[in-house]
Amino acid sequence: MVRFVVYLTEMKILGIESSCDETAAAVVEDGTRLLANVVRSQIDIHKVYGGVVPEVAARSHIEVINPVIDEALAQAGLTWSDIDGIGVTYAPGLVGSLLVGTLAARTLAYIKQIPLYPVHHVEGHVYANFLTEQRSSSPSLLLPSKQPAFPLLALIVSGGHSQLVLFKNHGDYTLLGQTQDDAVGEAFDKVAKILGLPYPGGPSVAAAAEHGDAYAFSLPKAKMQGPYDFSFSGLKTAVLRATQQAVGEAYDFPSHLLPEKVDERLQRDMAASFQRVAVETLVEKTVQACEEYSPASVVIAGGVAANQELRRQLKEALPLPIEYAPMSLCTDNAAMIASLAYFHALSVEPTDPLDMEVVPSISMTKTAWAT
Ligand code: KG4
Ligand code: ZN
Repeated sequence: MVRFVVYLTEMKILGIESSCDETAAAVVEDGTRLLANVVRSQIDIHKVYGGVVPEVAARSHIEVINPVIDEALAQAGLTWSDIDGIGVTYAPGLVGSLLVGTLAARTLAYIKQIPLYPVHHVEGHVYANFLTEQRSSSPSLLLPSKQPAFPLLALIVSGGHSQLVLFKNHGDYTLLGQTQDDAVGEAFDKVAKILGLPYPGGPSVAAAAEHGDAYAFSLPKAKMQGPYDFSFSGLKTAVLRATQQAVGEAYDFPSHLLPEKVDERLQRDMAASFQRVAVETLVEKTVQACEEYSPASVVIAGGVAANQELRRQLKEALPLPIEYAPMSLCTDNAAMIASLAYFHALSVEPTDPLDMEVVPSISMTKTAWAT
C-alpha cells in the first residue's frame, strides 16, 4: 500500500460528528490543541419520546449542520484556507444521522479541495483523552496534563458500546472483550425509564444515586465466559423485578406503569444499587485487564465515562495513575473526531469525497488502519 505521510505541524483539522443525536463541529490542531468545539444537542427534541427517534434526529441534523460548522470556524478565528483536513464520523450510528454529517463533509472536502478522513465513532471517543491543550474562546476545560502513552488500555462505555480495547499504537488495536447484550449506557437509560427518571437516563440515574443507599438492593453481577466480556441485560431485568417487588406488584406488572408507583426513596436506593453493581463490573474487568496486559496508560471513553462514581472507583482501584477528559468531551462531540483524524492524516491516504460510504454497524474488532 502507498503510504501517505504528512509532516505538517500546526495541522488544523475540522471534525464533524452527527452519528446520533448531537450535531457537532470542532477544530483541533495537531491532534491535541482544541481551537473550537461546538455541540448542538437534540436532547430537548427527543425528551418527549423518552429516547432518540432516528427520523427526527436526521432532520434536526440537516437544520443545524451548516451553522454548527460555521460557528466552529468562527470560534477558532479561522477561514477555510486555514483548514488542512476534514475528519468525519462514518460509522457506527443511525444511518440517517451519519448521512447528514458525511454528506456535509464530503461536499466541503470536494468544493474546498481539503483532504477527507472518515473515522470510527467509538475509536474517536478514546481520542477525547488526547486533547491536552485549549486555545479557544469557549469555556475553559480541565484537560488531561499529557497524552496517554502506548500500550494503552481503553474502557469504552457509551449508549451503544461497552468494551475493553488494547491499543499498541494509533490505529493498531485489539478488542479484548465487549458486551454480549445491552451496552452499559443503554442499561442506565432503561433503568431510568423503569424508575421514572428523566431522559437521558445516565445523568439522572447518577444524580438520584447520589442520595441513595447503594446496598439497599442486592443485584446480580453477570458471570461471562470471556474474561473481558460484559452483560448488562440481566442486571436491568433484576432492577425491573426488584422494583416490581418493592412496590408490591407481580412480575407481569407492565414496566411502563411502574414509575407512578415508585417513590423518591425507592428511586434513589434502586439507582444507587444499580450504579454500584454496573460500575463495580466495569472497574473489576478493567483492573483485571490492566494486571494481565500491563499497559502504560488507561483511559475511559464514551458517555458513561462522565459518571463520577466510575471515575472515583477506577482511580482508587487501578495500579497506575489515570487522568480523565472533561465530561463535555466524554459525551458525543467533534473534537475527539478531529483528534483521531489527525492521526489518520499522519499515516493514511485521504478518502475520495465522491467515494465514501456510511456503515451504521461496525464494531472495533482487531483492526489496524495504520499498519
Ligand atoms: O457516547 P455517548 O454520548 O453516545 C453514544 O455514542 O452512545 O453516550 C451516551 C450514553 C447514554 O446512554 C447516557 O445515558 C450515558 O452515556 N451517560 C451516562 C452519564 N452521562 C451520559 N451514564 C452514566 N452516568 C453519566 N453521568
Ligand atoms: Zn458516542
